[in-house]
This record gives sequence, structure tokens and C-alpha cells, in this order.
Amino acid sequence: MKVLVTGGLGYIGSHTVVELQNEGYDVIIIDNLSNSSLNVLKGITAITGKTPQFEELDLRDKHKVKNFFQRHQDIDGVVHFAASKAVGESVEKPLFYYENNVTSLIYLLQELQKLDKQKIIFSSSCTVYGEAMQMPITEQAPIQPAKSPYGNTKQIGEEILKDTCKVNSNLNTVALRYFNPIGAHPTAKIGELPLGVPQNLVPYITQTAIGLREQLSVFGNNYPTEDGTCIRDYIHVVDVANAHVVALNRILENKQNSNFEVFNIGTGKGSSVLEVIEAFENVTNQKLNYKIVNRRAGDVISAYADTTKAKSILGWTSKYNLSEAISDAWNWEKNLRK
Ligand code: NAD
Ligand code: WQD
Repeated sequence: MKVLVTGGLGYIGSHTVVELQNEGYDVIIIDNLSNSSLNVLKGITAITGKTPQFEELDLRDKHKVKNFFQRHQDIDGVVHFAASKAVGESVEKPLFYYENNVTSLIYLLQELQKLDKQKIIFSSSCTVYGEAMQMPITEQAPIQPAKSPYGNTKQIGEEILKDTCKVNSNLNTVALRYFNPIGAHPTAKIGELPLGVPQNLVPYITQTAIGLREQLSVFGNNYPTEDGTCIRDYIHVVDVANAHVVALNRILENKQNSNFEVFNIGTGKGSSVLEVIEAFENVTNQKLNYKIVNRRAGDVISAYADTTKAKSILGWTSKYNLSEAISDAWNWEKNLRK
């Protein structure tokens, strides 16, 4: 079975390529290298013993996308990661985000619909729930108006899939709403590669501990939570990757209940910022330099997943705990700076 993975050299994409290859899939990757590097291919090869096919291609180029699909009509399924993901940057550059995340999806679907097999997994995000009224968050929770153009692109992406599925019963789609992917491959051969100053908590922690950043700023400790810091559902990236394999198997085996399905991909367990820091300190046996600062604009208080649907319908559940994910993130950081 041949699977196209867009954005397959990125953080979640590369881990998914590993799991797909381990499952026996033939993978072809498209990536424009805007937030990744060719070195990732070497990491994937070192882990799996197999080098996936790779084409450097920008999905915003309609003609190149068309040409690609004309040359690869035997694709059985698509896993679509390619997108820009920095929330703050999306506020500064909304048109860039709408073009990169929305236009690319449209071009991809236009060409996919010309194939015999029209199956696609879409990277969505817990960001679509905003500040949810109830924890844990089920897939039925209302979608809230997005707080950023990035968040909008994930909501619009899901709408595009849903509307297209309504008029094309040959199209099979799954949107996976990831909570907070962290960690790296346990071999430390692939992992997260933040460009510039990390915006996310775990890479900021590991870069501080390794000496690249002076101090972690904890954004607010006066939230209505037990220790005053925000709660998130941190999930090991390998668990996230495996959810794609399971979802892909499901659509390839025509097991879907409807041709547009949505699943939460989280652990179901919420951890506060201070608990993440504590876990890091316990795993690494070292103190982290941090200070409490003002809240960050746009942060929700709490977000963790109800994973019942993923468990019962996909048969998928997370396997790694927070300490294991942090340990793998730390080993990756140390490996990077060797
Ligand atoms: P990433 O930036 O590491 O990977 C995205 C990859 O897509 C990169 O390799 C980049 O070079 C490539 N890319 C971007 N625009 C492209 C284009 N126009 N044409 C071809 N390639 C392009 O990001 P990630 O963390 O692996 O995220 C993957 C997906 O998951 C994204 O859609 C993201 O929005 C979504 N997501 C991520 C998180 C997270 O916390 N990392 C959470 C929820 C959802
Ligand atoms: C986690 C917690 C921060 C950095 C983002 C996107 C979301 C999704 C996942 C793509 C929060 C706190 C962080 C720091 C801190 N991505 N923090 N100091 O904001 O939950 O989600 O990534 O879809 O859309 O918004 O993740 O890692 O940025 O923050 O105190 O230096 O850590 O305030 O409570 P977030 P995060």
C-alpha cells in the first residue's frame, strides 16, 4: 500500500512515516522544507532501515500538485500534515497562514478526487475547542470562534473536508484533533526542531536546561486551577503517530461509519505547567531555572481530551506517560547539541 505523507519531514510527520514504514506501508513524502531539513530522512532511515521516497514540493503550487498526482496515480491514502503552525506568527501574517494551510488543502483535495482511492487523514487540533465548557473534552463539544488565524485554518480545514464529503461519497476522511504532542522518538534519531525561540513549553524547557535559553517564563500562576497554572494534555509524539496508522487502516479497510470522522488524540490526562516542570526535574535529576510572569494572551485555562471515542471506535489509546515523553524530549535535545 502506498501512502503520501505531506509535511512528512516535520515533527509529527516524520514520526508517522516511521510507524507507517514499520507497519509495512510504502511511503512517499512531499515537503517544501520550510520547517524541516533533509537530515530527517537520514533519521527515518536509521530507525526503519528504509528510506522513504521524497519530493521537495510546495503544496501552494497548484500545477506542481497536479503534476505530482498525474505521476502517482497509485496512491492508496494521504496523510496531510503540511501546514504552518505558529499561533503568534499567524496573527502577524494571516494571509500567509490562510494560503499555506487552506489553499494547500484545497489543491490536494482537487487532485485526490481524481484518483480511484480517495482517502485522507487531516491534522486538526484541540485548538478548535477553544475554552471548552466541560473537561474532559469530547468530540461533541462545540467548536469555538478561533482566537488566531492558525486556529481558523484548522476549523476551516475540517469544514472543507466535511462539505466535500457531503457531495463525494467516494471520499473518505478522518480529522485527528491532537492535543499537545511532545517528546521525540525513543532512539533520539528524530524529534522536534523548533525554528528560533520555541513557543511551546517542552522544547523551551529542554533548551533552557541545556543552556540555550537562560530561563523559562511560566505564563501565569493565577488561573483557577489547583496550582494556578494552565492544564494541558501532553501526549507522546509516537502515540500521535500511531493514531495515524490506526486511522489509515480504518479508512483503507472501508470501516468508517461516515465518510467524515473526527477523533480526539490525547492521553485523557491533564497536567499543569508546574507538574510538567516537576516531571522534567524528576526525570533529569536537575533543577530548572524558571520564573512566574504574566499570562500569555490567548491561552485557555484547561484542555484535556475525552479519549472514549478513539478507544472504542479506532481501538487506539496512548501508551507513553508524561515522564517517558519528557525523557525522550530530553534525550533528543542532548543528542542535538552533541
Ligand atoms: P512541522 O512544522 O514540524 O511540520 C510541518 C511540515 O510541513 C514541515 O516539514 C514543513 O516544512 C512542511 N510544510 C509546510 N508548508 C508546506 C507546504 N506549503 N508544502 C509542503 N510542505 C509544507 O509541524 P508539526 O508539529 O509536525 O505539525 C504537523 C501538523 O499537525 C500541522 O498541520 C499542525 O498544524 C498540526 N498540529 C500540530 C500540533 C503541534 O503541537 N505540533 C498540534 C495540533 C495540530
Ligand atoms: C502549554 C502551556 C502555556 C511556553 C499550542 C497551540 C495549539 C496546538 C498545540 C497546534 C500553556 C505554558 C508555554 C512557555 C509557558 N498546536 N507555557 N511558558 O498553547 O497549549 O498549544 O500548541 O495546533 O494550537 O496553541 O501549547 O506548549 O505553547 O503551552 O508557561 O514558554 O505552557 O502558557 O499553559 P498550547 P504550549
